[in-house]
Amino acid sequence: MANILIIGSSGQLASELKKLQGDFLSHQFYFASQADTDVSDPIAVQIAFQNTMPNFVINCAAYTAVDKAETEQKRATEINEFGAQNIAKQALKMKCHLIHISTDFVFDGNNSKPYKEEDSTHPISIYGKSKWKGEEAIKVSGCDYTIIRTSWLYSSFGHNFVKTMIKLGNERESINVVVDQIGSPTYCGDLAFFILSHLEQLTSHKNNIYHYSNEGVASWYDFAYEIMKLNHLTCQVHPIPAESYPTPALRPSYSVMDKSKIKSHYNISIPHWKESLAKCIQLLHR
Ligand SMILES: NC(=O)c1ccc[n+]([C@@H]2O[C@H](COP(=O)([O-])OP(=O)(O)OC[C@H]3O[C@@H](n4cnc5c(N)ncnc54)[C@H](OP(=O)(O)O)[C@@H]3O)[C@@H](O)[C@H]2O)c1
Repeated sequence: MANILIIGSSGQLASELKKLQGDFLSHQFYFASQADTDVSDPIAVQIAFQNTMPNFVINCAAYTAVDKAETEQKRATEINEFGAQNIAKQALKMKCHLIHISTDFVFDGNNSKPYKEEDSTHPISIYGKSKWKGEEAIKVSGCDYTIIRTSWLYSSFGHNFVKTMIKLGNERESINVVVDQIGSPTYCGDLAFFILSHLEQLTSHKNNIYHYSNEGVASWYDFAYEIMKLNHLTCQVHPIPAESYPTPALRPSYSVMDKSKIKSHYNISIPHWKESLAKCIQLLHR
């Protein structure tokens, strides 16, 4: 039996982990929300570790407001860089394995083939930079870690693109969606299941970075089109270039990640994004 501390417990990914805890009854789960444990406060992080004596800590806490980060660099850094560092320090002290979630936004998007873990990072936004610095802080901390970079997360919990599209699809006759940013949508339920069902193996492959997203490639337009289709919404989706939809933060135009490393180390197959999207939408209709 392992003690598992999940930090940032109100978010999308953490909520999926919480939902799955009943399938992993041999473990003792502890959930810490921002109100319980602010990761930017080293003392609060220390107390969370002391109270739960974790064998594994899963860091789902993050400053995820990509556009707002452009004007709130200090807070994004406190959470995504120093927060990760605070957790890593305690993980080292308590001999606890840290599973940290990072992002495709550590890349600049100039690749023409899927990004491998060892490809050069070059974040083009404050959010991406703060997440990359979080990775670096963990790598030099001396703790046992697994860093999982994922992309375009959605879930039946929390706020995300899927829910926004369903809302807009119910309100409008047509919407414009960016067609020239390409990536891979990822269902948090799939990532949560991968993590919980491979905890022991993660320790035997410690100190690695992995890429995990659903299989397949999509533009935001493709993603929105599929969401409308699966929800039987008649709202028309029109493709537009990113330059017609300016945002405060730059986003990589291509952030598809190569998942061969995680698939071969753990002998897993990963569902296609359309299959997982259908599953999530079914849950939303229940
Ligand atoms: N969302 C995406 O598309 C995406 C893509 C790639 C990678 N990721 C990464 O995947 C991970 C999980 O993302 P997600 O979508 O589940 O995020 P999310 O739904 O935005 O949840 C993040 C959680 O972090 C908490 N948090 C924020 N500041 C905190 C602090 N100072 N101390 C403790 N907790 C704090 C938030 O608390 P409140 O609920 O109180 O605000 C929230 O519950 C993150 O590391 C993110 O960077 C996300």
